Amino acid sequence: MSSKADLIVGLQWGDEGKGKIVDHMAQTHDFVCRFAGGHNAGHTIVVDGKKHALHLIPSGILNPKAKNIVGNGVVLSPSNFIKEMSQFDNLKGRLFISDKAHLLLPYHALIDQAKEILKGDKAIGTTGKGIGPAYSDKIARVGHRVGELFDCEKLASKIIAYFNRKRDIFRVMNIPIPNRDELIEELEGYRDALAPYITDTTQLIWRVLYEGKRVLLEGAQGTMLDIDHGTYPYVTSSTTVSAGACSGLGINPKDIGKVTGIAKAYCTRVGNGPFPSEDLTQDGERLRVNGHEFGTTTGRARRCGWFDAVAMRHAVRINGVDQIALMKLDVLDGFSEVKVCVAYEIDGKKIDYVPYDLESAKPIYKIFKGWDNSEGVKDFDKLPIEAKEYILAIEEMIKCRVEIVSTSPDREDTIIRK
Ligand code: IMP
Repeated sequence: MSSKADLIVGLQWGDEGKGKIVDHMAQTHDFVCRFAGGHNAGHTIVVDGKKHALHLIPSGILNPKAKNIVGNGVVLSPSNFIKEMSQFDNLKGRLFISDKAHLLLPYHALIDQAKEILKGDKAIGTTGKGIGPAYSDKIARVGHRVGELFDCEKLASKIIAYFNRKRDIFRVMNIPIPNRDELIEELEGYRDALAPYITDTTQLIWRVLYEGKRVLLEGAQGTMLDIDHGTYPYVTSSTTVSAGACSGLGINPKDIGKVTGIAKAYCTRVGNGPFPSEDLTQDGERLRVNGHEFGTTTGRARRCGWFDAVAMRHAVRINGVDQIALMKLDVLDGFSEVKVCVAYEIDGKKIDYVPYDLESAKPIYKIFKGWDNSEGVKDFDKLPIEAKEYILAIEEMIKCRVEIVSTSPDREDTIIRK
């Protein structure tokens, strides 16, 4: 009997705490698959007191029984990936990289950083890892795929031809043309380290679904950073929503079963761009400190604000979310009032959906009474009454059930509602 894959997707601007839930669900899945993004994503998982920083390797790597797929929709930086791999032993047979994934090479990061500087105050605030340039090359059909590492000489010639075509732009950006011999040596190093893991992952995932294996699809970033459905141009360059799992792995929509959407009980974003419910007062600062809201990948302080029910309805609909995991509820402990953005005001008009442009959207809030002591609670009924009311009100606003509530970073401090 063939199986359907479970999917996990971020519903806000990334950093929703997907790591904890993916780690939890990876314990019961045979395969965990990444379908989009690159090493711009990141989370830290602690197992038996040992910290593991994951950027691109799927979280199933921490479950010795799970196998892990890096899909074709990903942009893969070989140097960073090899560094990430070095945290683990015995990856053979547990890690599979799509031969169709695109290579993110060191020059992509240089282009990314140079472009951000040239943009001045219009900068996106990217992670500077080269994600946009690698995806741009893919879409412009001048990218290079992981499978090309099997012929390094040919790949080096293509890369040098690419540099020659863009010679003038690279000169402005101060990016040197690589030396052919050094480039071949670098590519051969990547090939030697990655070759045992490169395969046709589309065939692999079809086979394991056909065999009825339990497959988990792990999204990266969040819905509001999606290239089409986020706050363009202040977005990442991939399809972060659930539909991205189909193109990013080579499955079809009917292969997807349960969709779990991950959202924080408040809201954060890193980088520039609209964030209607951002709180620039002491409350925002308190959320940042209590929630340790500093990026895993770049260390940047995250912008903090209140739960945005309008953006969440948008995310629930786009992703086909079946259940929500509401993360970091305990970070709201101790606030006398907790706000939820229930609509936007744009040019004097009240709007209850995410429009084309959120730049001038002002939040309209509903105020809830705050609470204390939700930290570490493992049973929904034991939550403070105000916290329960907050969750039930959110469910009503976004028309989706909150099935999981996280009340501390600890694996154990998780409420699974009946
Ligand atoms: P890029 O993905 O590096 O091109 O960055 C584009 C935007 O997405 C920037 O605002 C980044 O801060 C944001 N971004 C990218 N990856 C993540 C992530 O994993 N969490 C949160 N924001 C991210």
